[in-house]
Amino acid sequence: MGSARDFVDGSTYSSLGYAPVSSEHDHADLELLEGQIPAALQGVFARNSSNPKFTPPEPYHWFDGDGMIHAVSFEQGRASYRNRWVRTAGLAEDEAAGAATWTGLLARPDMARPGGPYKNTANTDLLYWNGQLLALWWLGGGMPYALSLPELSTVGPWTQAGTMTAHPKVDPRSGDLVFLDYAPTSSRVTHGTLTRDGQLTRTPVQLPGPRPQHDLALTEHYTILIDVSMFPDPRALARGKVHMSFFPDVPTRLGVFDRRTQRVRHWFEVPACYVYHFANAWELGEKIIVTACCMRDPLAYEPQPGRSDRVVPRIGHLRLEPQLVRWTLDLETGLAREDLLDDAMAEFPRVDDRRIGAPTRVAYLGSFAAREAFAFDGVRRIDLDSGAAIERRYPPGWLGGEVSVAPLGDAEDDVALLTFVSEEAGDRSELWVMAGRDLEILAKLAIPTRVPAGFHTRWVGADELAR
Ligand SMILES: [Fe+2]
Repeated sequence: MGSARDFVDGSTYSSLGYAPVSSEHDHADLELLEGQIPAALQGVFARNSSNPKFTPPEPYHWFDGDGMIHAVSFEQGRASYRNRWVRTAGLAEDEAAGAATWTGLLARPDMARPGGPYKNTANTDLLYWNGQLLALWWLGGGMPYALSLPELSTVGPWTQAGTMTAHPKVDPRSGDLVFLDYAPTSSRVTHGTLTRDGQLTRTPVQLPGPRPQHDLALTEHYTILIDVSMFPDPRALARGKVHMSFFPDVPTRLGVFDRRTQRVRHWFEVPACYVYHFANAWELGEKIIVTACCMRDPLAYEPQPGRSDRVVPRIGHLRLEPQLVRWTLDLETGLAREDLLDDAMAEFPRVDDRRIGAPTRVAYLGSFAAREAFAFDGVRRIDLDSGAAIERRYPPGWLGGEVSVAPLGDAEDDVALLTFVSEEAGDRSELWVMAGRDLEILAKLAIPTRVPAGFHTRWVGADELAR
C-alpha cells in the first residue's frame, strides 16, 4: 500500500487500471464471452473518463486528464466499440504546443491564463440532449462539449444553455434540461432550465457562502439543491485564501427550489455531511423523498471525531466513505428525517432514468473496494424502501465502474445494467450486461483494447437516437 503522498501526487491514478490509453480504436463485432445480448438492448452505452493525452505536469490529480469517451453500440444483436478524446479547446492548445500546458488541481492556479485557470476537459459526465451526446466537466463555469453519436466526433462547445456543472438532468415528464452552475468563490449557485423548444431560464440562488456543487436531484415540481457542510473556511477566505474545511456543527441544508416560481420554497436541515451524488428524489403529497450518498468525514487532512478505522478510497485530499441515506422532507412541518439505507461504502448511484423524479424502488451503486484508491469491486442493488441489498462482486483482480440502466421492458425492474469491467494489472477489458432484477449476468463481451477506470456513464436507447 502506498503512502498518503501517493494519493496526493497522483502516482496511483496514473498507473495500473487508471493508466491512460494512447490511441483511439474502432472494433466491430465484439466477441461474446458469456450469455446472450438481450434482443431489446439497442442503443449506445458510453462512459466518460480522465485520459491525459500528454504527460501531465506533477502533481497530477485524477480529475486533471483530458476527457475520453469509451462507447459500445448495440444493433441487431451485434456490438461494436469505439473510444475518442473529447476535442476541447484546452486539448487543442496542448496539441499545438505538443505538450501539456495547463496546471492541474494540485498546483498553484494560473489565474492569468485565458479560459483558465483550469482546463475544461469535459471529462466527467455524459448526457443525451436533442440528438447530441454532451460531455460535461465537474467544475462550474465550463461549457459542455457536444459529440455526435455513434461516431463520437466532437462537434464543439454546446452554448445553448451557457456554462454548467456536471450532472444536469432531463425531466422525463416535461423534457426540460435542469442544471446548476457556480463559481468556486461565489456565494451564489445558478439554477438553470432549458426547454425542448429552447427557452432558457437561469436563476441565481443565494447561499451563506461559497459551496462546492456537483449534483442535483429532481422531483416533478422541485429541484433539490444542497448546501453542504464542507466549504472554504470563511476566516481564510477573508484573507484571500481558499482552505476547504468540514464543519460538523453546521447542518447540511437541502433547498427545495420550485421550478414554477423559480424560488426556494424551504431549506431543510439534515446532519452535517458532504454529498457527491444523489440517487433520486420524488414527491409523496406534502413530503419529498431524497436519496443520496452521504459522507461524514470527507477531508483526509481534517479527521473528524471517531474516524472509522476502515480503509477508505481517496482522490487527492477527498476521503470517500459514502453511505446511502434517505431524507424525508416534510413541507408542512419544515422538518427533515434521515434514515440510513445501506451501511456499505458505495457511490455512483443510478436509477432507471425514466423514473427520475418519480417514486423509485431500486438504485444501483458501485461498491467501493477496501483500499485507498477509488475502485469498484462490485455492484450493489439497493431496495429504497427496505434497504435490502444484493451484491455482485467482480472477479479478483478486476474492477468495474458506474452502471447505466438500460430499459428492456416497461417495469422498473425490467432493465439491463451495463458497465466496463477491466483487469487491474493486465490489458483485458470486458463489457458486462447484468439483469437489474437480480444482477445475474446476461452477457459479457470482450473489448480488444484496454478500458481504464473512469467516471460517469450514459445509456442512449435506439428510440432516442432515432428521434
Ligand atoms: Fe459526478
